[in-house]
Amino acid sequence: MNIGIDQISFYIPKYYLDLAILAERNHVDVNKYYKGIGQEKMSIPPHDEDIVTLAANAAYPIIQKNGASDIDTILFATESSIDQSKAAAIYIHHLLNLPQNCRCVELKQACYSATAALQLACAYIALHPQKKVLLIASDISRYDLDSVAEVTQGCGAVAMLISHHPRIMKIDNMTGKYTEDVMDFWRPNYRKTALVDGKFSTQMYLKALEGAWSDYQAQEGRAYDEFAHFCYHLPFSKMGIKAHQYLTRLNKQTMQAEHIDAAMIYNRIIGNSYSAALYLGLASLLDHRNDLEEQAVAMFSYGSGCVGEFFSGIIQTNYQQYLYTTEHQRLLAKRQALDYETYLEFWHYPEPTDGQTITIDQHNHSTFRLASISNHQRHYART
Ligand code: CAA
Repeated sequence: MNIGIDQISFYIPKYYLDLAILAERNHVDVNKYYKGIGQEKMSIPPHDEDIVTLAANAAYPIIQKNGASDIDTILFATESSIDQSKAAAIYIHHLLNLPQNCRCVELKQACYSATAALQLACAYIALHPQKKVLLIASDISRYDLDSVAEVTQGCGAVAMLISHHPRIMKIDNMTGKYTEDVMDFWRPNYRKTALVDGKFSTQMYLKALEGAWSDYQAQEGRAYDEFAHFCYHLPFSKMGIKAHQYLTRLNKQTMQAEHIDAAMIYNRIIGNSYSAALYLGLASLLDHRNDLEEQAVAMFSYGSGCVGEFFSGIIQTNYQQYLYTTEHQRLLAKRQALDYETYLEFWHYPEPTDGQTITIDQHNHSTFRLASISNHQRHYART
């Protein structure tokens, strides 16, 4: 069936930290971060951004352009949830003024859940081809200050419309999966920052890639040399390079940089956006390559804990006309660099646990912002 990604739009906050600042503070050569990890900047949310504002601002251009009348499901994928009970999708439903006859739910499995949401959405559209699903992946990646993982933080949201006859990417039916119970990265409910066994997590990523690729092949998936490009989950860009080296070796092929480079451009200057990272890679590929019509693209999704999934799709004819490249590049162009002190101030975000009222200073001049917290409730505003 012809089902897949009809629209794709991302959003990031206006601030970033250049990793040169952390290199100086940590007394390491900046090339360890720029080249060894493959990251130059990481997006940092000010106090009036959270996963809801990131998500609403990512989805808003899609709703403005396409309307919302056919959307009857919102799937919200995140690791950095703001509530143990209420789905962030419901805030989005309200902020975007979507129809009342809509279902809203939040999905979690570390950085993987947006891929589960995509597969569920495609299956749903197969049964209800006249409907559309709004799928949003939104995350703020936080590790302990002064830990080795600190340089692999970041944040962002990607919104996608999933539909019949998609204008961007048709998703193939065959898909390869891998699950194993491991503790490579996790975050107990009482923690704001992730716990991670860094080196082990990179090994598990590669093991899951091998398992998912082998399952994809067993489902009669496409051969390695059918793909014009490969998009990997990008906790940091070097991980994408290592993953591709691994897959090329498995397939006795030669590594070609042009098979992965375009998908890594945004990630290098945004950082890890967990559940959104793979789809930020897809947006990066589409925004930087206009020669992909009818080409097959491979996608590898990884979520620690762990689940990996290898799947694929075909980029559609005239896809270039339906992108948000100008909006994406405008967001990137207007970003401001933070100094270390302001980064620290934003990192320690205010979160009253006693129900007191706080009004949040305005930094974010995009459409939606977090305006206040009172009585344990978050209040969002349109700017
Ligand atoms: N110039 C160039 N390269 C340099 C250098 C220099 N001056 N100095 C060091 N390097 C290179 C090293 O040789 C190394 O390269 P290789 O990996 O190719 O060997 C690289 O820089 C990293 O250096 P270290 O090996 O010293 O690594 P580290 O101790 O700083 O830790 C990390 C790196 C494990 C990624 C750590 O930042 C981390 O734990 N990050 C969080 C975990 C993570 O992102 N895991 C990814 C898989 S899990 C996942 O994908 C889910 C998710 O999103 C979290």
